[in-house]
Amino acid sequence: MRVLVIGGGGREHALVWKIRQSPRVTRVACAPGNAGIAREAECVPIRADAVDALCHYAARERFDLTVVGPEAPLVAGIVDTFRARGLRIFGPTAAAASLEGSKAWCHAFLERHGIPCAASRTVRDADAARDAVRLFGIPVVIKASGLAAGKGAIVCRTDADVDAALERMFAQREFGAAADEVVVEEFMDGEEASCLALADGAAFAPLPSSQDHKRLRDGDQGPNTGGMGAYAPAPILDAPMQARVDAEILGPVISGMAAEGAPYTGILYAGLMIDARGPRVVEFNCRFGDPETQAVLPLLASDLVEHMLAATEGRLAAERVRAAPGAAVCVVAASGGYPDAYRTGARIRGLDDVPAGVLVFHAGTAERDGAVVTSGGRVLGVTAAGPDIRAATDRAYAGLAAISFEGMHYRTDIAARALARRR
Ligand code: AMP
Ligand code: GLY
Repeated sequence: MRVLVIGGGGREHALVWKIRQSPRVTRVACAPGNAGIAREAECVPIRADAVDALCHYAARERFDLTVVGPEAPLVAGIVDTFRARGLRIFGPTAAAASLEGSKAWCHAFLERHGIPCAASRTVRDADAARDAVRLFGIPVVIKASGLAAGKGAIVCRTDADVDAALERMFAQREFGAAADEVVVEEFMDGEEASCLALADGAAFAPLPSSQDHKRLRDGDQGPNTGGMGAYAPAPILDAPMQARVDAEILGPVISGMAAEGAPYTGILYAGLMIDARGPRVVEFNCRFGDPETQAVLPLLASDLVEHMLAATEGRLAAERVRAAPGAAVCVVAASGGYPDAYRTGARIRGLDDVPAGVLVFHAGTAERDGAVVTSGGRVLGVTAAGPDIRAATDRAYAGLAAISFEGMHYRTDIAARALARRR
């Protein structure tokens, strides 16, 4: 089988790594890929959002399966385009991807189906937003409804935070059209976890659970980022809690989408907030999470390609997703300045010096004059699996210790919450 992966970050590197392990796979290409992916697959210089060019390429090279990493092409309808050409692709249609593409639509959907989430109001101007803030009280969360690269949710703990958020959304238009609609949400307390589930339109199958670390600095301080690290599984999603997530969230979403004429196929990523009352939805993504996927896939014992084929053929109910024992941890090494402006082009040293068994997934890297250099905000996801969370964490940080580049920074407390829970 020939498999094409679309995207060029750490998530796509992990996907390429896992897909290559399938005995059915004979060729893996990635568009556009990065310097790390290029060590394992052919990289094709087509941007992830160039839907027509990707479709043309996949047809010409007769790929049997295309796997989409990022949300933008999914929301833009890449699955619809491929299907119309008779090409097999793993992911939701544009209509189904609305779960991520419009937080306003997502909230309305969740309310229609009685699925637990934060109370919210969708607004179009600052005055209406202030009314909603008064309704929910502070803290409150103000979100651009559309796609904002993971940076469109602002947790406001003071009136000044609210003013600043509304200024960014409505006056400065920092998020552009993504903030034409703004969702004001009640603040939810609890512990966050992510559940990535395969879906075939009717059935779903959760992958091992995980926990992201969205804030920039240790102790969950600093601004939100795309994700500074992840571990899997998330101890808070034990079997009874996962059963509740399946029954109260994943099942109703999959059946609700089918009932509304937009059956959901691909990966449904449920960002959850869990407290004494149970799980509630923070957000949905219509794709694999990044960096979660880098921690989740090393814990998947079964064949991801088989699962994705089953999902595209409506056979998921018969699939058995098997988790490996133990735990996996991914620590993101970021460029100086990230998540704000950052410098690129710094030479990365030590990539070949990491201890055996450590996986170095590349996120923002490029090759220049035979050297690997930084080319993005999140540069590497240094990942290790181990018999338990302690062993996996120690191995990942041992791997990171071998690597350096100018301005490199990372959190030193990835998985700390899971480690504390063990004590
Ligand atoms: P989102 O982009 O919707 O995933 O939000 C980014 C982050 O903001 C989440 O991972 C949470 O940490 C936080 N967040 C979002 N919505 C809420 C909420 N209603 N209550 C508390 N925290 C939230
Ligand atoms: N790590 C969060 C995301 O993939 O959106």
